[in-house]
Amino acid sequence: VTVLHQPALVGAGLGLRRGLLEPLHDIQTGKPDFLELSPENWMGIGGAWGRQLRAYTESYPVIAHGLSLSLGSTDPLDIDFIAELKAFLVEQGIQRYSEHLSYCSVDGHLYDLMPLPFTDEAVRHTASRIKQVQDMLGQRIAIENISYYAAPFKKMSEIDFINAVLSEADCDLLLDVNNVYVNSVNHAYDPEAFISALPASRISWLHVAGHAADIPDVLIDTHGTEVADSVWDLLRFTYQSIGAKPTLLERDFNYPAIDKLLAELAHIRVLQAANT
Ligand SMILES: [Fe+2]
Repeated sequence: VTVLHQPALVGAGLGLRRGLLEPLHDIQTGKPDFLELSPENWMGIGGAWGRQLRAYTESYPVIAHGLSLSLGSTDPLDIDFIAELKAFLVEQGIQRYSEHLSYCSVDGHLYDLMPLPFTDEAVRHTASRIKQVQDMLGQRIAIENISYYAAPFKKMSEIDFINAVLSEADCDLLLDVNNVYVNSVNHAYDPEAFISALPASRISWLHVAGHAADIPDVLIDTHGTEVADSVWDLLRFTYQSIGAKPTLLERDFNYPAIDKLLAELAHIRVLQAANT
């Protein structure tokens, strides 16, 4: 298999979901600058889907966002899965990989991303697993700040927890700006102060997404609507403070016409251009 070499990541990207394969294929202008996929949705897929994927990894820079590694779990790391993942990333020429700073399994699988307890023990445990994954993959990985609705056994703040894991594991951060906004409302903190306290040099790319605000005072991170004005404002602030990092729009369901998604990518580029 030919190893693909992809250019540096810049601009505005879009999450590659099966529901977007056809619409993306037909666009002429305003294409995404890069795509992001979840390996779990594509590993071991051959046939027509596999050929379509290959066409995308040959024509776009593609990055990967994992779902099932369960970095914070007390279950053993799935060594076989990591070996398969590595082969998939090499085969598709995917050079960047991220996972959630969370756990999703306890003796099997929970179908949600659970927040880790913000404790020293969880920092050490999770950081050592991130290091193991980086060793096995032979590359640095980025971990993503998740949205959470309860903080069990909390001994430190979320920002201190994230920063401790980043430094102990010596890994990068995928900064999800929507998750910072959602958490800042649900847990009553200042989102700009939070972003300012992160190590800018470790932030490799950003996520933005839509959230639901159906219940008073509680925001739910859904990835099913357009990006909210308050999140655009926080993205602008983020670019002003850390520079115009590559930014991916996550849209997981409830797809509008592709033009609407491309318009959101165009808006990302406008904000980026104001800070380069
Ligand atoms: Fe995200």
